[in-house]
Amino acid sequence: MRVVILPDAPSVARFAAEAVASTIAAKSNAVLGLATGSTPLGAYHRLIELSREQKLSFKDATTFNLDEYVGLGPTHPASYRRYMNENLFTQLDIPMEQTFVPIGNAANLLSECEEYERRIADAGGIDLQLLGIGTDGHIGFNEPGSSLSSRTRIKTLTEQTRRDNARFFASFDEVPTSSITMGIGTILDARSVLLLATGTGKAAAVQAAVEGSLTASIPASALQLHRAATIIVDEAAAARLERISYYRDSESERLRLGLNQ
Ligand code: GLP
Repeated sequence: MRVVILPDAPSVARFAAEAVASTIAAKSNAVLGLATGSTPLGAYHRLIELSREQKLSFKDATTFNLDEYVGLGPTHPASYRRYMNENLFTQLDIPMEQTFVPIGNAANLLSECEEYERRIADAGGIDLQLLGIGTDGHIGFNEPGSSLSSRTRIKTLTEQTRRDNARFFASFDEVPTSSITMGIGTILDARSVLLLATGTGKAAAVQAAVEGSLTASIPASALQLHRAATIIVDEAAAARLERISYYRDSESERLRLGLNQ
């Protein structure tokens, strides 16, 4: 697991955008796994800039979002489909039919989950998966207790997650109680994974995920099993890491050995 500590949230955003850009530079038809929430917004802004400057094209890329609220249709103001359309897709050259977000109001939710897994497999699997982290250590909407080998399925949201996400809704009561989410097994199948975390609110979850035991109680700790997982944090989110000086030394060594190209 690589841990990269950067000075602030804009640096985290730039790092993530560069990782996406180099994935597409290496493979124009890359399959990207995307996340929602506040954390990836800076990276998405940078990707839009690169695309406007014609330094990056998404026309052959395919994207799969991690999750969606059950009960919210694609046009609901708080749906993740709407968030992605507004904050990214409509501002890039990606054809909308190459973007996938689980359909939260599908008539048959169970077959929507199965279909989603099948679509990812048909696309050849995910090359780069972006992740945020919940304050309870969740990734996607894989709440504590999620099977470490889970696939896309319906997952009940914890009260803590609903409270954290209430800012996107008119009131707490309007926050849906369930989600469709890629499973932890689905996420671990991605060829590389980038988890972004910024702010002191994430420091405890980051420490538990990176340095705690591998446990379903901290879903993000499953990334310890992944052979190409990178955790990108700002100083605030890194504040509780016990091996912080080792992570800094490792990055200096990478630079010295020319491993960052
Ligand atoms: C939601 C999403 C997660 C995201 C998390 C953190 O629960 N389902 O994918 O990582 O929020 O969001 P934020 O970046 O706003 O802190």
